[in-house]
Amino acid sequence: MIFTDVDREYDALLRIMTLGLDWAWRRRMLSKINHNRPTRVLDLACGTGLVIFALARSADSRSLLVGLDPSSSMLRSASRRKRAIRARCSLELVQAVGEFMPFRNGSFEYETVGLALRNFGDKLAMFVEAYRTLIDSGWFLSVDFVLPDKPLTKGLYLFHIFNVLPNLGRLVSSSWRRTLTYLARSIQLSQPPEETAKMLLGCGFRHTFFDKVTLGIVAVLGGQKWSEMDPKLSISNDAKSSLELGGS
Ligand SMILES: C[S@@+](CC[C@H](N)C(=O)[O-])C[C@H]1O[C@@H](n2cnc3c(N)ncnc32)[C@H](O)[C@@H]1O
Repeated sequence: MIFTDVDREYDALLRIMTLGLDWAWRRRMLSKINHNRPTRVLDLACGTGLVIFALARSADSRSLLVGLDPSSSMLRSASRRKRAIRARCSLELVQAVGEFMPFRNGSFEYETVGLALRNFGDKLAMFVEAYRTLIDSGWFLSVDFVLPDKPLTKGLYLFHIFNVLPNLGRLVSSSWRRTLTYLARSIQLSQPPEETAKMLLGCGFRHTFFDKVTLGIVAVLGGQKWSEMDPKLSISNDAKSSLELGGS
């Protein structure tokens, strides 16, 4: 797996590569969460747990934060950090993929993905699962790298991610060179946020949005689960109430 053997240096290297901006990007996504009430949040592709541990700082004892990731080594790092911090809320780590979530329908108020939307082999299946496992009116939120729209920025950015980053990675280890080459390819192939928002709409989400930040190299996006009443159901309910009225 591509994220095997990079867990130990992941947090520090990401910080260096993004000049510390990765935290600002995650915070921008997390600012959409209402922190004033107990919440159940699922962080998909949690990696070393940067999103859930950031949330844990402001969560109270009634909150449940769950991190999901298929990588044993990333989860081992997350688990070490979980032992080191004293969270007031419940924290769980689950080994699974986002395309098949081992949770009941309507389990979470928010589902987040930090810098990892590109990593899902089947994004559509993950969106369908997110919709199923969110409560009605729950939010799906993501922050991830995308390609800038402006041709000049795009050209310079592609040069940076294909030529500079993998060479920096090589200085650390061959695993990091491989991971950063994968990162560059996945960004080059990333779906424009406009299309991802359309995909969310197609899966039943409403109030979808996307914000491009930092010269358009990152997009924060999301949508709200909105289960509209089945029209047949509302007709039969109307018919039922008129029958009841008629009978009284
Ligand atoms: C770049 S890391 C992101 C870690 C973290 N979310 C963050 O904010 O830094 C990408 C993670 O996606 C995970 N991943 C890859 N495929 C996945 C899938 N199908 N479902 C869930 N997670 C997946 C990898 O194991 C890895 O830990």
